[in-house]
Amino acid sequence: MLLSSRQLTLGNTSVRMRDPQRVEETLRCMQKAGLNTLQVISDFDMTLTRFARNGKRCPTSHNILEISKMISSECKEKLKDLLDKYYPIEIDSSKTIEEKLPLMVEWWTRAHALIMQQKIRKDQLTLAVQESDAMLREGYQEFFDCLNQHSVPLLIFSAGLGDVLEEVVRQAGVFHPNVKVISNFMDFDETGVMTSFKGELIHIYNKREGALLNTGHFEELRSRPNVLLLGDSLGDLTMADGVQEVEKVLKIGFLNDKVDERLPSYLNSYDIVLLKDETMEVPNAILDFLV
Ligand code: TMP
Ligand code: MG
Repeated sequence: MLLSSRQLTLGNTSVRMRDPQRVEETLRCMQKAGLNTLQVISDFDMTLTRFARNGKRCPTSHNILEISKMISSECKEKLKDLLDKYYPIEIDSSKTIEEKLPLMVEWWTRAHALIMQQKIRKDQLTLAVQESDAMLREGYQEFFDCLNQHSVPLLIFSAGLGDVLEEVVRQAGVFHPNVKVISNFMDFDETGVMTSFKGELIHIYNKREGALLNTGHFEELRSRPNVLLLGDSLGDLTMADGVQEVEKVLKIGFLNDKVDERLPSYLNSYDIVLLKDETMEVPNAILDFLV
């Protein structure tokens, strides 16, 4: 494998590739084209953040809100019931995306309707994140810093809660100027109380539509036809659909849960699949190679 400086990482047992030769060719092309032709598009929850730590699940941006003091205990219970009902469907490999889609829309719609009733205050989000166990993957600092240092744009494309995830990135000290976020953002009234969500809902399976609504962003990046895509769900695969005149896309998938049964579909759609890997080692090794 050509990633000489960090060979170990791609030789790691947690890495699987359907076609290692294709990965190598893609990386060589990207390296030759240079960093000024690259953009990175990454999912947030369970991709930039950890899935678990010492056997305990880490929160998604929705969960951070759910466990905070801002939400009533009745609402917490309802959101938890929704999670218990719909998360197993999200990761059920026996169902197709077409079968899951209406159920995922139902989950997001019901969760967001509950959140909107909670009179959330913008100024309380900072504390909610501080008090949570939210954690970016090990090696995140190197990842964010390297992209910023080389002026490579990083788009965080999330079906989570934009205001919450931005706070996580800010508190981690890596909300650099090269970072842009497309997500579900809250709308607040003049007293700082949440009233609704802005724009179109982004859920796990409509990132393609979300990307196409943001043509302006991708238009600005027209001179960057090479894409490094990072995700943890099969819904994340369409995040680069808005990229104009795309040349090479390298898709890295974190497979965190139900690894054995989901591996075949992940190998079919992601170029590199990382099994229960809580670190950014492989993306960092790739950046190291491209720099
Ligand atoms: P992502 O696009 O940043 O990964 O965000 C989507 C994740 O959010 C998905 O894995 C499910 C999770 N989620 C919750 O944890 N609670 C919720 O109420 C909802 C609607 C989604
Ligand atoms: Mg995710």
